[in-house]
Amino acid sequence: MKNALTHRTLYTALLKLYPCRYRQAFGAQMQQTFLDQYQDIVSAEGKVGLAFWWATLCDEVPNIIGQRVTAWKEERRLLPPHVATHTQKGRSESMSETILATGIPGLKRFATGKVRDVYELGDALLLVTTDRISAFDSVMSNGIPDKGRVLTQLSAYWFQQMRGQVASHFLTTDDQTVLQWLTDAGVTVTDELEAVLAGRCMVGRKTQALPLECVVRGYLTGSLWNDYVAAGGESRPVTLHGIRLPAGLRECERLPEPIFTPATKAETGHDINIGMAEAAQIIGEETAERLAALSIAIYKAAVERARQNGIIIADTKFEFGTGSDGELIWIDEALTPDSSRFWDADSYQPGRSQPSYDKQFVRDWLESSGWSKEPPAPVLPPDIVDRTSEKYREAYRRLAGQSLLCVS
Ligand SMILES: Nc1ncnc2c1ncn2[C@@H]1O[C@H](COP(=O)(O)OP(=O)(O)OP(=O)(O)O)[C@@H](O)[C@H]1O
Ligand SMILES: [Mg+2]
Repeated sequence: MKNALTHRTLYTALLKLYPCRYRQAFGAQMQQTFLDQYQDIVSAEGKVGLAFWWATLCDEVPNIIGQRVTAWKEERRLLPPHVATHTQKGRSESMSETILATGIPGLKRFATGKVRDVYELGDALLLVTTDRISAFDSVMSNGIPDKGRVLTQLSAYWFQQMRGQVASHFLTTDDQTVLQWLTDAGVTVTDELEAVLAGRCMVGRKTQALPLECVVRGYLTGSLWNDYVAAGGESRPVTLHGIRLPAGLRECERLPEPIFTPATKAETGHDINIGMAEAAQIIGEETAERLAALSIAIYKAAVERARQNGIIIADTKFEFGTGSDGELIWIDEALTPDSSRFWDADSYQPGRSQPSYDKQFVRDWLESSGWSKEPPAPVLPPDIVDRTSEKYREAYRRLAGQSLLCVS
């Protein structure tokens, strides 16, 4: 019981301190364990259990949380205790292997995102894109075959396409070069590690990530459409996030001009839309203006290129960091199905929602499954997994104009 209380205490306090990061970091299964333990304690011991829980909390917070917070501050991203130190694999119906978590002995972990495992590699970062998929702020317990490779290779494609226009963190996705960097860093490269990394890793410049999600929207869809309707935009001009929009636009209609709608991460893991004024308060007016201009410029250039391949980029989200000299650097991922809405230009029709090249199958299935949207998420059935995998691969084929390297 003491053990259960200790875990529950730690988890609750961590969630209070860093809700978004810990919710992601602990993962659905771990959260459920804690929730179950909490239920057990309360139902078995009632108020006495709660009192003991509080006492334990007061007793332990200064030590355990203090250490964790210090580590967090030092590393910026804390490696939670349960994160794999070995590779965790899964298998789909089609028997393609998925990589759900990684561990690279000898490398210090920099961050564990919803999708990426990031390691320090000297002045650079090794970004390993796993096959994890998240929906409704929960990471699913099974992965999507080839998703990590699609995201890595599509990002590499875009970073390279935009090289003349914007500095990005991209250094290489060449497997042999990456393995050499790892060897130079003292990592023992086994056949297993080589197979795990194949086609899914990128080395990028390490930056100081800016706490802003740089969202650019070219079409009226998603939350912007909901906000537009709620504000009465169908019958009169409205101002959303400080931006004036004309009356009478239809769902998914192209906006007169692409707009920049920055967001921050909320405690629950949802992004919260903020206006430029708030963005300026967070990162400074000049930087906010530069990010807006840069984001819109990348979006416009990408739209042009994608159009040649019959794809509409309805909206997308960029992340930026600053280099040691203060330069703005485009980081993380670039115009992937996880960060963007892609539509087929041939079947595009404003006035209705559009099928997109992303997790739509997963979202639709989760909606129909009766899941409460609280962790743990249900296991995705094989046909949903396979169809989603195919959508990701198709997005890559159509945008990059070639098949994926290393398809399993
Ligand atoms: N070059 C870089 N310098 C510093 N941090 C980086 C760099 N590239 C990526 N990151 C960080 O690494 C993490 C990658 O994790 P992942 O992409 O899975 O993200 P997430 O933030 O959890 O979620 P999402 O991308 O869905 O919003 C992010 O926190 C991102 O900001
Ligand atoms: Mg990310």
